[in-house]
Amino acid sequence: MIHTQDLTKTFQLESGPFTALKPSSLRINKGEFIAIMGPSGSGKSTLLQLIGGLDLPTSGSIAVDGVQLESLNEHERTLFRRTKLGFVFQNYQLLPTMTVAENVALSLSANKTPKAEIAARVSQLLAAVNLADKSGQFPSQLSGGQQQRVAIARALAMKPALLLADEPTGNLDRRNGEAVLRLLSQLNKEEGITIVMVTHDRQAAAAADRIVMLQDGEIVDTDWKGGELQ
Ligand SMILES: Nc1ncnc2c1ncn2[C@@H]1O[C@H](COP(=O)(O)OP(=O)(O)OP(=O)(O)O)[C@@H](O)[C@H]1O
Ligand SMILES: [Mg+2]
Repeated sequence: MIHTQDLTKTFQLESGPFTALKPSSLRINKGEFIAIMGPSGSGKSTLLQLIGGLDLPTSGSIAVDGVQLESLNEHERTLFRRTKLGFVFQNYQLLPTMTVAENVALSLSANKTPKAEIAARVSQLLAAVNLADKSGQFPSQLSGGQQQRVAIARALAMKPALLLADEPTGNLDRRNGEAVLRLLSQLNKEEGITIVMVTHDRQAAAAADRIVMLQDGEIVDTDWKGGELQ
């Protein structure tokens, strides 16, 4: 599903170039649930942005579902993201003036899906995240965990092969965090969606099949599971 080779990302700062991601190679198979862990500033979000085609590498190659991302132009990358990926962020990023149902429908509407089909898909998605009764409410009327489940439903609208999540439980209390993790595990096991999740939280990482550890922009381990982190 994901194959990177000598992937690097260097930012040009006033103080000079800063390499946030050092030459790294990584392989993630279809159907895997991966947790990316590592200290703050180690390059986790940078790696996720490259995998998601939100940013371009400075050098190296990255293939996602058979598509070489570094060879796409901006328009092609937008299409790639819209049709193949789902994104979930720490701060949910729901549109506050739209209802829950409208938020979930966004990418379907952008893709000119017929109205009746959108309505059916939105009900199905909201039922799957256990929020069928909230479809007419606004994000501000929901708890953090409920908002994150709306964000997950939205991310799944286009039936993506790959779900990318950056600290999806970072703003949630334990109970809501566990509900979100259960949902991600279920989507992975039952729908076969490949998931790459950045997390600081060992308990969240335990939901994954495999952990990719980053340190100072370098992948230091791709098998570590459980035990103590320094
Ligand atoms: N757009 C940017 N311009 C300049 N430097 C950046 C940019 N994005 C990230 N960096 C730098 O790259 C490094 C890695 O950042 P990144 O956001 O990937 O870390 P992270 O592992 O996600 O950290 P956290 O756990 O705090 O979210 C940091 O030192 C950061 O300052
Ligand atoms: Mg980050």
